[in-house]
Amino acid sequence: DLIEWDAEAAEKGGFDTYMLKEIYEQPQALTNTLIGRLHDDTGEVNLDINLNPQSFKRISIIACGTAYYAGLVGEYLIEQLARVPVEVDVASEYRYRNPLVSENTLAIVVSQSGETIDTLEALREAKKGGAKTLGVINAKGSSMTRELDDTLYIHAGPEIGVASTKAYTSMVSAFVMLALWLGRARGTLSEMEAKDLLHAARELPRLVEEALAPERVEQIRRVAEKYAHARDYLFLGRGVNAPTAYEGALKLKEISYIHAEAYAAGEMKHGPIALIDAQLPVVVVATESRLLEKTISNVQEVRARSGKVILLLSDGDSENARHADDVLYVPRAHEMVSPVVNAVAMQLLAYFTATALGKDVDKPRNLAKSVTVE
Ligand code: AGP
Repeated sequence: DLIEWDAEAAEKGGFDTYMLKEIYEQPQALTNTLIGRLHDDTGEVNLDINLNPQSFKRISIIACGTAYYAGLVGEYLIEQLARVPVEVDVASEYRYRNPLVSENTLAIVVSQSGETIDTLEALREAKKGGAKTLGVINAKGSSMTRELDDTLYIHAGPEIGVASTKAYTSMVSAFVMLALWLGRARGTLSEMEAKDLLHAARELPRLVEEALAPERVEQIRRVAEKYAHARDYLFLGRGVNAPTAYEGALKLKEISYIHAEAYAAGEMKHGPIALIDAQLPVVVVATESRLLEKTISNVQEVRARSGKVILLLSDGDSENARHADDVLYVPRAHEMVSPVVNAVAMQLLAYFTATALGKDVDKPRNLAKSVTVE
């Protein structure tokens, strides 16, 4: 008998899809993002960036899709830790809105492929205005890297699945390091605080490995299957995890085609609350944070309107489990790095919803891996 050599199956390394393989590659991808860049003894990070971290007054983060959500986490981290004003734009808006740019601006573009045309054109727009430019990029030697002043490679390795997974968590980790670097250089972070965060960042590969433990994955699969026939989904989160909700909704739409909306939880009462009924699953990111109590009061508002609550809780939080129809536990993490750990649960929820519905997760309809046309 001839043994057929299936190159694609071999590349998937035993997984059914590239997306699942890439979800499981995250501990390694994160190790590669962080390795050699964190110095435990001093609390310093070494990013090999030539730009002077004191030479600008504001930061503009520019990206599309999932990379944009990584940028929103970056905004939160940089403003909290380095106290520099940050704005985040989707590239297709930035490039046409005649943005205010000067020599005092640092423009950070975020892109897995380094080829997304809107982001590339936005980068050119920022340069025209005199901004210094830095990229948070995965693909080596891509178009953007040839035009940037400096590139912080995330080293996540090739990402084939159209739905971005490991690039997202690596981008967010890169922003943790950037915020640390800026905070140290600009004197807003003490050595103690920096060491604490650095330690939290170093834990990420292990925490993500733990987030991928078989019993957790099974629980996510059960919940995904339970709600796979929902017509709509709502995702809520606050603070540094508001973007986790946005990313969760985007992942679900992309590969399962279920309509999903996402809001900062405090915004719910300003409109989206009208959507809630007994048919609506509401995923709430409610892991340990300064704002957890506020989030839980948003959860009670959902419950009071018979919404189905799926809570993402930190391990050990049995107290808040009573507010949920279903609970997804994730490993406890420092709030500032928790979006990395929480994203994994979002990816798996979308993944198992799509596979339960028989969708082709690696090649979702109407989408391309990188969008090089306008
Ligand atoms: C993510 O799942 C998407 N397929 C998409 O939003 C993507 O993140 C976006 O097109 C940006 O791509 P880039 O990171 O290669 O620039």
